Amino acid sequence: MGTNVDITQEKIDQLLAEMAEHKKKQGPLMPTLHSAQRIFGCIPIQVQKIISKELDISVARINGVVTFYGHFSVVPKGKNVISVCLGTACYVKGSEGILDTIAHELKISVGETTDDGMFTLKETRCIGACGLAPVFMVNGEVYGNASVQMVKDIITKLKN
Ligand code: FES
Repeated sequence: MGTNVDITQEKIDQLLAEMAEHKKKQGPLMPTLHSAQRIFGCIPIQVQKIISKELDISVARINGVVTFYGHFSVVPKGKNVISVCLGTACYVKGSEGILDTIAHELKISVGETTDDGMFTLKETRCIGACGLAPVFMVNGEVYGNASVQMVKDIITKLKN
């Protein structure tokens, strides 16, 4: 769900140009996916098909890689990306409850974007701030000692 992806000829040309470079080296798939994610903001099926044709790799395999790595996404990311740490220290301190609260507040599951394109919810591994557990990030900014009330307040603030 979420906003539509802008797949312009210009962006496709840019991807093909970057792929021409990647193809000169071994293992062009990962660098190509990084290029695609940067150029389009996500890697939807239409883009996967282009990559599939160019690299002669099946769409199924490409889609498997795209969905496996947290860095890539099939749908556009929302304006605000919220990631909750599910590393051990955070998990023990209740980060799953934080994640559930956000999912409930935004009415989306992990990996999804709200229909209005405002929020994407993600989970992350340890981000090295265990002393502040449980932690979550909003657009790269770390919030420590997280509480359910805290995430509710931040979501309300971002909505307005
Ligand atoms: S486990 Fe969450 S920051 Fe380390």
